[in-house]
Amino acid sequence: MTQRTAIVTGAAGGLGRALAQALIERGSNLVVVDSDSSVEDLTSGRADQVLARVADVTDDSQLTALVADAVDRFGSIDLCINNAGRVDYAPMDLDAAQAADIFESLWRVNTRACYMLGRLVIPHMIEAQHGHLINISTDHVHTCGYPNALPHEDSSSCPWASAPRRPLGGDAFDAYDASKWALNGLTQVWSQALKRHGIRVNNICLGATDTPMIRQAMTDLRGTPPTPDDIAGWMKPDEIADLILELHDEGPSGRTGDNVGIWVGHPVTLPPAHPVLDRSHRVR
Ligand SMILES: NC(=O)c1ccc[n+]([C@@H]2O[C@H](COP(=O)([O-])OP(=O)(O)OC[C@H]3O[C@@H](n4cnc5c(N)ncnc54)[C@H](O)[C@@H]3O)[C@@H](O)[C@H]2O)c1
Repeated sequence: MTQRTAIVTGAAGGLGRALAQALIERGSNLVVVDSDSSVEDLTSGRADQVLARVADVTDDSQLTALVADAVDRFGSIDLCINNAGRVDYAPMDLDAAQAADIFESLWRVNTRACYMLGRLVIPHMIEAQHGHLINISTDHVHTCGYPNALPHEDSSSCPWASAPRRPLGGDAFDAYDASKWALNGLTQVWSQALKRHGIRVNNICLGATDTPMIRQAMTDLRGTPPTPDDIAGWMKPDEIADLILELHDEGPSGRTGDNVGIWVGHPVTLPPAHPVLDRSHRVR
């Protein structure tokens, strides 16, 4: 992947930063964006390799400028990882207007921004006749119990080892889960429509991973910070980043249209492509 160019959104912290660092180590040119200005640290000592922008991915004009700057600087976009995201909760007794505000704000960053960035990048990928779009969804969509109940011989520490897991977060996750389920719609249609152009599109259905988001979410939900045992049970951003780049490294004949499940309590290894993705659904 030497000298290829990747875009990573939400790269100031958490999984996005781990992805950015892994791509830098692999020699990729990199365009990183985050609303948090600490994203600019990633350019330190490597201004030739990394372009950083402090921007809000829900602002179409800022995304448009980002893609134009990326192409202007590096000439192509080979990989685009829609990682920036937020979590929020809408308990069932919440006032409807407040619930609508939560839905709207999550939809804008978790779904609409991914759609817009994809739509801005796709023409450049079509022109190049190759590329890979990766959306970061959640294991609330594709669990170890759905659509297939998995055996748990190698994963006895999985919280759902004794009963299949339903495809959802919790009782207050309607807006969050809807915003992430929608990414599967983008992934499925884009993968089918773009395979003739050599473009792959995949969805990562990520389980609990130790990032600022989950630490804050756990604190908000429980009223106390996560315990060392909680943290020890979560996956690590570096291992998830490596797995995502392994998915990318499948190359032009790799899977497209998959919901790649990565779950706590299971080995963090790239699973085989879902059986529905037969050869006719591969890019080449
Ligand atoms: N950590 C987990 O357990 C977990 C599980 C499932 C899915 N995810 C998903 O993984 C992705 C990465 O999450 P994380 O855990 O690293 O979260 P994080 O909060 O640690 O990092 C998210 C980054 O996105 C940035 N961001 C948020 N809104 C933005 C906006 N409007 N414009 C620009 N940047 C913005 C934040 O500033 C932050 O740096 C998210 O899409 C999240 O929903 C995380």
